[in-house]
Amino acid sequence: MPNSGKKVCFMTGASGKLGSEIALAVAGQGYSIFFTWQHSEEKAKETLEKIRWVSPESQMAQCDVSSVTEIERAFASFSEHFDRLDLVITSASNFFRAPLLEVTEADWDSLVDTNLKGAFFTMQLAARIMTKQPFVSRMITMTDISANLVWRNYAPYTVSKSGIQHLTRIFAREMAPKILVNSIAPGTISAYSGRDDEPEADLVGKIPLERLGDPMDIVTTIRFLMETEYITGQVINVDGGRLLF
Ligand SMILES: NC(=O)c1ccc[n+]([C@@H]2O[C@H](COP(=O)([O-])OP(=O)(O)OC[C@H]3O[C@@H](n4cnc5c(N)ncnc54)[C@H](OP(=O)(O)O)[C@@H]3O)[C@@H](O)[C@H]2O)c1
Repeated sequence: MPNSGKKVCFMTGASGKLGSEIALAVAGQGYSIFFTWQHSEEKAKETLEKIRWVSPESQMAQCDVSSVTEIERAFASFSEHFDRLDLVITSASNFFRAPLLEVTEADWDSLVDTNLKGAFFTMQLAARIMTKQPFVSRMITMTDISANLVWRNYAPYTVSKSGIQHLTRIFAREMAPKILVNSIAPGTISAYSGRDDEPEADLVGKIPLERLGDPMDIVTTIRFLMETEYITGQVINVDGGRLLF
């Protein structure tokens, strides 16, 4: 096993737009990274190449997080490479518009199984490793401020993110004091939001700090949660004050 005492992060969804920046930032903090991707092989390879500039032992694996078997396979591969787990970040997420009266069973399963079920079983498998270790470790879930808003046309997505926020509290309570579990809920992050149904000026008009978020706003919060020792079960809304509206 090559990792010689370095801290290790297991992260889902590091082939994502924001996810890849988070993985790079965590590697930059001195961590080895094991990350998953599903369809974006080129983006995953590009991300791994950049991570390996600072953390050459890092690894990636293809994994559909809506399948428990595949999550188990990813953890089996993780354990072949690394003998400790310091940080889990659940970032894999599906996002698409689904008008309330037209939501199909397939839409629901795709969004809720990827986002909520995927996060739950990733956290469960990680916790089985983390609770056996003689040190405190951390989990960070990626949710969305929409968990606290009523967005038209995004019911399965927003319900899934709301569910992950509650899972965050459940794991924080049950896994304390061995594992600190917190969530980051981004608002709209620059060009990365995936929403094209509201003009940027309208979005900015609802943000007290008068700008969209930047990936660095999320990275700064990740770094904070990697260091803090007395916060667990919290959702940090990184939204420029959007939820104050
Ligand atoms: N970007 C924003 O403005 C914003 C705002 C609010 C919340 N967030 C949250 O922040 C996190 C990171 O966002 P992002 O910008 O990186 O999202 P993104 O660009 O949409 O990327 C989504 C990631 O999830 C992976 N994924 C999707 N379905 C999967 C499945 N069934 N199994 C495994 N992996 C799957 C994708 O893998 P492949 O591409 O390889 O298939 C990709 O790595 C997400 O949880 C998102 O909900 C983002």
